[in-house]
Amino acid sequence: MERNELQVALRAVNAHVRNLKRLGLTVIPGGAPRATKDNASLLREVEQRVIACTQCPLYRTRTHHVFADGTGTARLVFVGEAPGREEDLQGKPFVGAAGRLLTKMIEAMGLRREEVYICNVLKDRPPNNRIPQPDEIEACRPYLVEQLTIIQPRIICTLGAIAAKALLGMDVSITKIRGQRHAFQGLAVIPTFHPAYLLRNPDAKKLVWQDLKQIKKLLGD
Ligand code: URA
Repeated sequence: MERNELQVALRAVNAHVRNLKRLGLTVIPGGAPRATKDNASLLREVEQRVIACTQCPLYRTRTHHVFADGTGTARLVFVGEAPGREEDLQGKPFVGAAGRLLTKMIEAMGLRREEVYICNVLKDRPPNNRIPQPDEIEACRPYLVEQLTIIQPRIICTLGAIAAKALLGMDVSITKIRGQRHAFQGLAVIPTFHPAYLLRNPDAKKLVWQDLKQIKKLLGD
């Protein structure tokens, strides 16, 4: 290897090591990175930054921030759009009508809500449940990326068009991409319909069930 190439490679390795350290991981020469902090404490650190965040105006109108529910070692992560009224009041994602349906979907897969991780693209409720604005998504997306980077789930299931677009950057209809396997930073992503859409369009439940069965298969359950 040329001296220049060596220097470039060394710089890339150093940048990678710095990134791992930021995530609380130690590098053992010749071995895999070893976690020095557990996922729960890493996620708590991200949550502290969400609580202090003033990157968009939604912190001014929220009752509570809504970070996540579930375990930081989950194999399956669900990503929704943004907290609604109930979620804002309780500080917990998916606890209203759509949330009750999501819990049923999880249980129909043979899992418990506590075994998965549930979060949203936005961590604060948009007033009157309006659609998240692009600048709000841009401001909040890095927190979602950090959550997923720490958890490293086997599957990420995005719920609805906003979550799929925020993660995959695709501007195509959810009807076209649902049930297909996509990737985000090497992690498998399966988009499906949002449970709130299912409450309005119960006929779509059979399509979502197909997607959930596919996820179960990929999880090896
Ligand atoms: N809809 C979402 O997208 N997220 C929630 O937490 C609740 C409803």
